[in-house]
Amino acid sequence: MEATHKLFIFTFAALVLILTSSAQQQQQCSDCGNTAVPYPLSTAPTCGDQSYKIRCDAGRLLFDTVNNTYPITSVNPTNQRLVIKPATLSSNDTCVTSDIVYEGIQLSSSLPFNITSSNTILYLNCTETLLQSPLNCTSASLCHVYANQTDSVAPCRDAGLCCTFRTGGSSTEHRIRVREAGCSAYTSFVNLDPNLPVDRWPEPGLEIQWALSG
Ligand SMILES: *[C@@H]1O[C@H](CO)[C@@H](O)[C@H](O)[C@H]1NC(C)=O
Ligand SMILES: *[C@@H]1O[C@H](CO)[C@@H](O)[C@H](O)[C@H]1NC(C)=O
Ligand SMILES: *[C@@H]1O[C@H](CO)[C@@H](O)[C@H](O)[C@H]1NC(C)=O
Ligand SMILES: *[C@@H]1O[C@H](CO)[C@@H](O)[C@H](O)[C@H]1NC(C)=O
Ligand SMILES: *[C@@H]1O[C@H](CO)[C@@H](O)[C@H](O)[C@H]1NC(C)=O
Ligand SMILES: *[C@@H]1O[C@H](CO)[C@@H](O)[C@H](O)[C@H]1NC(C)=O
Repeated sequence: MEATHKLFIFTFAALVLILTSSAQQQQQCSDCGNTAVPYPLSTAPTCGDQSYKIRCDAGRLLFDTVNNTYPITSVNPTNQRLVIKPATLSSNDTCVTSDIVYEGIQLSSSLPFNITSSNTILYLNCTETLLQSPLNCTSASLCHVYANQTDSVAPCRDAGLCCTFRTGGSSTEHRIRVREAGCSAYTSFVNLDPNLPVDRWPEPGLEIQWALSG
């Protein structure tokens, strides 16, 4: 009788401990609109892990960079990746993206997010200094094919140099740089198959990964 009683109390205490600790550490945030917000991503101080803050605004998820904000278009908890929508041109007659004032996309290097190596970046309206870079700025470069066939970047067709590269490596881990002395516009595609015709390319997107939380 005594032993059964002790066992009961022990089991009960263990159960309470497991339930409360998992509730405190692994509280998943509620859905944002129709999108699930997997742990550790956090849309509020009461859920998720506060190192992994994103925002839910009127049913849409947003990703804050150092100085700017981009819409999140998809979240994949299986490989800890999310996709943001890159900036578009600031007007329909100049080849300059709206985030040039923030020098493009810059993630904080002190947060557990980085840009994955699955992105093909098309840099548009570049200066000659890019010719010294390892990027593909040849006349056959994919950026020309895209600019030639895409109305939303029509102003970029006659905008001088353009260059294409795949992300990966330390220089693109936290930033896609856009500036007057380099390239004034860009777009990005996740897992792009360069052999597909432009009309079968996916919507522009930039893939970001979050580190596993401890
Ligand atoms: C550019 O935008 C302006 C104002 O929104 C519009 O009047 C004009 O027709 C547009 N031009 C082109 C080429 O789409
Ligand atoms: C290219 O970028 C420069 C500098 O940002 C800008 O002044 C120019 O208008 C752009 N070129 C075109 C064709 O839009
Ligand atoms: C980003 O914001 C910081 C202040 O929060 C400012 O010092 C910095 O100049 C800004 N950078 C750009 C490129 O806008
Ligand atoms: C540049 O890209 C084009 C199109 O993908 C490719 O045919 C060419 O070999 C590349 N050139 C260099 C120098 O990488
Ligand atoms: C893009 O269009 C220009 C002008 O029409 C043409 O000279 C160039 O060959 C085209 N480039 C590609 C890669 O389609
Ligand atoms: C991003 O960070 C992860 C670790 O969280 C690392 O495994 C990966 O190599 C990094 N990716 C890039 C492109 O730096």
